[in-house]
Amino acid sequence: MNFLLSHRARAIKPSPTLTVSALANKMKAEGKDVINFGVGEPDFNTPEYIKQEGIRSIENNFTRYTASSGIKELREAISDKLKRDNDLDCNPDDILVSPGAKASIINVLMSVVDPRDEVIIPSPYWVSYTSQVEMVDAHPVLLKTSPLYDFKINPKKLDKILNELCNPKCIILNSPNNPTGSVYTRNELEKIAEVCLKHKILIISDEIYEKLIYDDLKHVSIASISEQVRDNTIVINGVSKAYAMTGWRLGYAAGPTEIIKMASRIQSHTTSCVNSMTQKAALAALTKDDGSVETMRKTFEIRRNYLISEMSTIKKLKFNIPQGAFYIMPNIGHYIRNNKKRIRNSVKFCEFILKNYLVALVPGSAFGAENHVRFSYANSMENLVEGMKRFKQALEDMEN
Ligand SMILES: Cc1ncc(COP(=O)(O)O)c(C=O)c1O
Repeated sequence: MNFLLSHRARAIKPSPTLTVSALANKMKAEGKDVINFGVGEPDFNTPEYIKQEGIRSIENNFTRYTASSGIKELREAISDKLKRDNDLDCNPDDILVSPGAKASIINVLMSVVDPRDEVIIPSPYWVSYTSQVEMVDAHPVLLKTSPLYDFKINPKKLDKILNELCNPKCIILNSPNNPTGSVYTRNELEKIAEVCLKHKILIISDEIYEKLIYDDLKHVSIASISEQVRDNTIVINGVSKAYAMTGWRLGYAAGPTEIIKMASRIQSHTTSCVNSMTQKAALAALTKDDGSVETMRKTFEIRRNYLISEMSTIKKLKFNIPQGAFYIMPNIGHYIRNNKKRIRNSVKFCEFILKNYLVALVPGSAFGAENHVRFSYANSMENLVEGMKRFKQALEDMEN
């Protein structure tokens, strides 16, 4: 049968990460000892107190549809969390609980973006932003950032690009950042917010890695800068990364009443609601604390420090020090330009290392950062040590 696929579906490009990860999985299935630095989720188990709440809710038959925007106690707990951690006043009715932050973002995009609107995405970027913007028939406009400025937005460049665009609607910020690990300061966010207010564009602030932050930094939500900025921002967050709950599927959006109301309406016609037991488990995550979040954060910091110290010993490998999330993204430009193996881009580089040294990395091209690779340190110290040993050997062999 000759299926007619929509223009929308055909516009979605296959992820360049898939080639390498499919190969890594195939090699693993063949019994090869592949060390996977490609993963985008914590390697820890969900803390016990959270799991128990999920189990209890099943035993108590809390297994039916809930209100589409999420159970009231959970939205209240999120409202308290936003006040406690982010100094944000947000009414529980202005919060939408969705099956993952990913779902929160597309619900919001569907609520605010019209076909042909422009959505600014700082680059390097998380892969789903561009695809989601394309799914709502809008245009992703990439705003290139530089390693010289820690891959952060230059407000003057933002202003300039906004002056040139026809239908700018919103910007998607992400701090702490995937893939760069950059974390914005209050001062930097103030300058960005000023430009956004000047051009009347909405800020979608993805803060999913908020709890994974190092060097005694404190996460700042751009929405907390002023009431005016708060009223112009949708905060996206969730439990996946902070509480090692990626498979439970729960994220949320908090922001202006009309947008949240519309996003809830959209969700009511797609996924209905987040599964009931996950909502109870997330309620426990946000209202109780057994210290495991901090233990995981500290462990990530130790691993990050290890990778920094190891990578610092490789003279021709440049990298920025990540201050949040669990990624580090070195520049491999030197090796792409100077190798005798005809490796001329980051995908080929990753294929070479995977096939010959059994180390899986994500090519920078997946994030709009050609000449880079992304390492995830959501992996055991033992694997980091062995993986770095293999990586160093690969770089050495590549030049000879
Ligand atoms: C920047 C960023 N935002 C959102 C998500 C999605 O989170 P969730 O599991 O809540 O959908 C991810 C997951 O990798 C991410 O890296």
